[in-house]
Amino acid sequence: MVQAKNYDVLVIGSGAAGLTLALHLADDLRVAVISKGQLSEGSTFWAQGGVAAVLDDTDTVEAHVQDTLDAGGGLCREEAVRQIVGSSREAIGWLIDQGVPFTRERLADGSESDDFHLTREGGHSHRRIIHAADATGAAIFNTLLLKAQEHDNIELLENRVAVDLITSDKLGRPGRQCLGAYILNRNSGHVETYGARFTVLATGGASKVYLYTSNPDSASGDGIAMAWRAGCRVANMEFNQFHPTCLYHPRAKSFLVTEALRGEGAVLKLPDGTRFMPRFDARAELAPRDIVARAIDHEMKRLGLDCVFLDISHKPAEFVRSHFPTVYERCLAFGIDITREPIPVVPAAHYTCGGVMVDARGRTDASNLYAIGETSYTGLHGANRMASNSLLECVVFGRAAAQDILDELPHTGMPADLPHWDESKVTDSDEDVIISHNWEELRRFMWDYVGIVRTTKRLQRAKHRVDMLLAEIHEFYSNYRVSRDLLELRNLAVVADLIITSAMQRRESRGLHYTLDYPRLLPEATDTILQPPSADD
Ligand code: FAD
Ligand code: SIN
Repeated sequence: MVQAKNYDVLVIGSGAAGLTLALHLADDLRVAVISKGQLSEGSTFWAQGGVAAVLDDTDTVEAHVQDTLDAGGGLCREEAVRQIVGSSREAIGWLIDQGVPFTRERLADGSESDDFHLTREGGHSHRRIIHAADATGAAIFNTLLLKAQEHDNIELLENRVAVDLITSDKLGRPGRQCLGAYILNRNSGHVETYGARFTVLATGGASKVYLYTSNPDSASGDGIAMAWRAGCRVANMEFNQFHPTCLYHPRAKSFLVTEALRGEGAVLKLPDGTRFMPRFDARAELAPRDIVARAIDHEMKRLGLDCVFLDISHKPAEFVRSHFPTVYERCLAFGIDITREPIPVVPAAHYTCGGVMVDARGRTDASNLYAIGETSYTGLHGANRMASNSLLECVVFGRAAAQDILDELPHTGMPADLPHWDESKVTDSDEDVIISHNWEELRRFMWDYVGIVRTTKRLQRAKHRVDMLLAEIHEFYSNYRVSRDLLELRNLAVVADLIITSAMQRRESRGLHYTLDYPRLLPEATDTILQPPSADD
């Protein structure tokens, strides 16, 4: 029998949100940070453009707030926007103190100035994106990881997949309190019991539910699905953001071409070289993402194109290479020299705007359970996230949740007598083809039926299919030993169902949710809040 492990805080996820929270707690508490693969597995490592913050003297918090509200299509929670944007300078200050090497302005003689270079992205009325060239996520991740590795109170555990949360109500104890989680240790193959005074979901988004995505494989919505099964509400799951420009190449699995290229002057073109964005929005290539992605989708369908083109070749080659070294090198590896020719691009699923409902301190509906980062729904993004607001939210809420945990500490003890995972009724699967088949089927129908442009009929088709898959996966899960692939598939199916159900409930087109059957905007903006069925239903 494997002994239960006990920690003050169990953080599920080692991205910007999880590491920020851990670093704010480690002087006082013993913290475990787990990742289902390598620690760098999440989206954070791949983030390119940067972090939005009010750092320039000509910019204001009010302008950043208004831009976020505009991009969000009337559905942002204004208090959350003010909380996060209002803390942006402090959040960046903390990242700089940790040692994140943000890019500085260059002086005329080529030397570095003391000021940071700020770039621009869609929806922002000012230059306010602080960045580390075009690999900002890697710079943040590597810096925070190093700090966490130096701390004796932080245990960093790779290859641990959280299966489900352990809650008091599931154990027949009073209330709905999170007591820890069951974790598959992929090194030993066993499911272990982790008891924790506080558990934090920092598991990232769910864009892997779509066939084409900019996200790494980890983005299977595990935190959202686990919270849902633990009885927590989720909100606004119909708003999955599609990034307008991912590299279109048969061997480029999921490579993003940062929006900062457009911020620095890149234009979108059709194969005959004509620009098309000015026909769709006065802000052209720098309109919010929902508008740009929909315009590209429209042109591709209208003209039967495989892709459109993003062109920055009119800028000096040295400027392009120094600002976008990652994009330059990656495209060159596929034979595309972006200083001389346009880049073939297509939209792909990128960001989950909805998620586990939390309050201003990251608290979910279950006590002692927090959700932070992309897995959460704070109200910042509304119906469409503005570029580079996500990493900012990770840092601000990582800190806010840590503060709440410190405040709650005196009232929260270590859970006792947690039952072990029961594997007595399951065997090893001899039919893993079911997992791979269902995985492929799910992601394809989500792409085809629940994508950039929706209809009621397509959503109904998707609902019918996801119901069948949920039943099949549940049977498989009940009979066979768990694996990472099976757990991810189970979670993807739950998240797909939440997206489809939310999309069917919204009878209007707003932000990222566009349906041909309800093309208008309703006068009142309301959230889509889904309540899990109670155990008695
Ligand atoms: P992640 O960084 O995704 O980390 C999730 C963690 O959870 C991982 O460690 C993973 O292993 C772990 N995990 C998940 N499920 C489990 C489980 N069941 N058990 C154990 N561990 C689990 N945003 C910006 O603001 N600016 C940008 O420039 C930007 N660029 C982007 C570029 C790309 C290519 C992508 C994909 C996203 C970009 N975003 C950007 C979005 C932003 O990067 C993410 O929203 C943010 O990094 C999410 O951070 P996180 O800490 O919430 O989760
Ligand atoms: C990008 O660099 O284009 C991504 C920015 C983001 O998703 O916020």
